[in-house]
Amino acid sequence: EKGGYDHFMLKEIHEQPKAIQDTLVGRVKDGVVDLSQELSLTEEEIKGIDKIHFVACGTAYHAGLIGKSVVEKLVRIPVEVDVASEYRYRDPIITPSTLVVVVSQSGETADTLAALRAAKQAGAKVVGITNVVGSSVAREADEVLMTWAGPEIAVASTKAYTSQLIAIDLFALHLARVRGTLDEQTLKAHTTALLNLPQQAEAILEQAGSIQPLAAAIAKHDNLFFIGRGLDYAVVMEGSLKLKEISYIHSEAYPAGELKHGTLALIEEGIPVIALATQKEIFEKMVSNIIEVKARGAHVIGLGIEGDTELGKSVDETLFIPATLPLLNPVLAVIPLQLLSYYTSVARGLNVDKPRNLAKSVTVE
Ligand code: M6R
Repeated sequence: EKGGYDHFMLKEIHEQPKAIQDTLVGRVKDGVVDLSQELSLTEEEIKGIDKIHFVACGTAYHAGLIGKSVVEKLVRIPVEVDVASEYRYRDPIITPSTLVVVVSQSGETADTLAALRAAKQAGAKVVGITNVVGSSVAREADEVLMTWAGPEIAVASTKAYTSQLIAIDLFALHLARVRGTLDEQTLKAHTTALLNLPQQAEAILEQAGSIQPLAAAIAKHDNLFFIGRGLDYAVVMEGSLKLKEISYIHSEAYPAGELKHGTLALIEEGIPVIALATQKEIFEKMVSNIIEVKARGAHVIGLGIEGDTELGKSVDETLFIPATLPLLNPVLAVIPLQLLSYYTSVARGLNVDKPRNLAKSVTVE
């Protein structure tokens, strides 16, 4: 049942090219994303949206954080992202022109469902992004956008996250086309880049073995940091959660520019820092932040884009992902982080697929 892999998590990490592919299939027409077959949102409704709320828990929340950047950039609609257990209690401003997008692999997470119901009650339209056909989210949302990752068994979510990112990208491109925020050429370029992701994810997985020695070193530490800026910050939040969840190592994800406002005090000789530098626009600033932690003795693992010859000069070890559009980097950048968590958990001899204290589906609030 594990298809020759030692754990479901490793199997599911390796299923990502297929999960991405299956989530894209049938959703592109004439080189452009078109979801009008499966969404009943009319052109008028789409044009009437004045704000979007992404609401989710855990890994799905981290997908929502990426969603904010993607939607704001491509569609120019203001987006807020909330952890579902906080959403209802902050008295959010929800009107009939608010679109609420709930993201849930299982479609059964209690807080996410409660948020969905509250949003509907307040008159908003709700889009559910879920991986389970017939789940509560799929049944109760006004619109459903499926991720086609297949069953995810390991408690740590991997292929569900990358598929959620794909579903969000598709949704954003659909909105952008209808609202006319992107020209045809840009829509096509984004779509082509999406279609290339499965093969690029595959290329990363072929190098999976190179991450094992890094994980073996990390397994000896009790504390570490993940840093990034912009979209990379959202990706490191996911990387940090994954590592905590299955390796029981304490880590913090930090926006790299914020370190010197307090947290830099925790950087001491030898502490591992995993630094993502995939975002071209902020690359120089990110390198300065890396130099700040290096100067305090951190051992830095940098993750950059293939072909980059700069990052290697300021870090101790480098990992690379193939080049895609900057907005799509998270889909690829998370994969080495998933592998790092996986191999760290294995190196520590832990129960990778069923970490202590956690359940796959959280059906209590
Ligand atoms: O089924 P859901 O997507 O609603 O689950 C949300 C979280 O419980 C889930 O993503 C959790 O954070 C994962 N165990 C993280 O790997």
